[in-house]
Amino acid sequence: MDLRGTMRITGDGRLEIGGCTCDRLAREFGTPLYVMDEDEIRARCREMAGVLSRAYPDTFVAYASKAFSTLAMCRLVHQEGLGLDVASGGELYTALQAGFPPERILFHGNNKSVEEVEMGVRAGVLRFVVDNMHELDILEDVARRFRRRVHVQIRLTPGIEAHTHDYIRTGQLDSKFGLGIANGQAMAAARRVLASELLVLEGLHCHIGSQILAVEPFGVAAALVMDFASEVKKETGYTVREVNLGGGLGVRYKSGDERVPLGKYASMISKIVREKCLAHGLEMPRLMVEPGRYIVGEAGTTLYTVGAIKEIPGVRKYVAVDGGLADNPRVALYQASYEAVVATRALSPPEEKVSIAGRHCESGDMLIWDILLPRLRPGDLLAVLSTGAYNYSMSSNYNRYPKPAVIFVKAGMADVVVARETYQDVAARDRIPARFEFADDASSCVGTAGTA
Ligand code: LLP
Repeated sequence: MDLRGTMRITGDGRLEIGGCTCDRLAREFGTPLYVMDEDEIRARCREMAGVLSRAYPDTFVAYASKAFSTLAMCRLVHQEGLGLDVASGGELYTALQAGFPPERILFHGNNKSVEEVEMGVRAGVLRFVVDNMHELDILEDVARRFRRRVHVQIRLTPGIEAHTHDYIRTGQLDSKFGLGIANGQAMAAARRVLASELLVLEGLHCHIGSQILAVEPFGVAAALVMDFASEVKKETGYTVREVNLGGGLGVRYKSGDERVPLGKYASMISKIVREKCLAHGLEMPRLMVEPGRYIVGEAGTTLYTVGAIKEIPGVRKYVAVDGGLADNPRVALYQASYEAVVATRALSPPEEKVSIAGRHCESGDMLIWDILLPRLRPGDLLAVLSTGAYNYSMSSNYNRYPKPAVIFVKAGMADVVVARETYQDVAARDRIPARFEFADDASSCVGTAGTA
């Protein structure tokens, strides 16, 4: 099995992350538990910023916090010198609470509310990534009221569908995000921003998808954005200063997978931006990217305790764990595929094929279909790998289960960054309307069974 980040297996077969054995973490913090490998996150931040800036002189890497956002994570990203992409008021709030400098924040979202726009303008975020004309109305109004100039990037619908291994270009992408190039919407938005006294056109943005393992689609996107930058110059005389290619860089979920080759990615996009500048006579823009999964995906491991085991002879053996759909909805949502290790017997050879089920009331609540593992027993500790991106951030309280804790591990230290929820937390915001109060006088209950 390919180990991730600082993972290693001790001589007696125990899985260790950040110098902490998983059985120690489970004893100390309970299960299910999200374990984040701090050194791995920092290594990916440094790799991303380093590789990109070596390929192209003027770069800006913004971590896409939708992948995993907590106060400690925002602090870490700031320590590593990256910018931040937020896609909601909640993500912006988290960043600001963590002390993240607003002048390094990009504000995304395809339906930002007036309140969210006000929050961003008040904080003074670096850029609004504008998704549609309605947002321009709101931005102008808020900018006027706050007497501030607002700096924007226009999100383009690139018309590319990128998949893991292949990609196709479609003339017109059917997407709720961004402004179409082909139908003139993007140009209309650019003209509108340029005509505004309050809005400043800084750049163009596009994001072609997520978990992309090939570099070619990114090159196609870069070319498209640069060609559009040239159109803008031809039509308006204005040269955009920034090109933001979004996120989407793929990571390893299973052994044998390869992360997107970062060096190739960086040289591909920087080469295309350069060539297009020469071809179109444009000045070199600042190059921005917004990786989310690449930064945190492989750093995350979820620990579960094995419970009920059900064998249907000749059909399948289900091994249920104390988590599932609520802490990892990606299997049900995207047919995502994971691999797992028995955390105290990581050196034991596989003995049987099982399927790992969750504990939620839903047949689709499965974590792994068909995996070869050593024989599992109730009480065993199971580690599911590569759960750092979009697991905690998309978790829910389905079945009113409290959300697991999140811990950061590093060099033998383990610290809680999100405390485990309690049943009290789960019900804390519930209210019972006064008219639902238990009545002393049973006759006041209308239609209650047993009333005369
Ligand atoms: N920038 C923009 C504008 C985005 O929409 C996204 C992700 C990113 C950056 C970061 O993409 P990444 O580098 O993480 O691929 N919940 C799904 C993924 C949704 C991605 C949404 N946008 C999943 O669990 O696979």
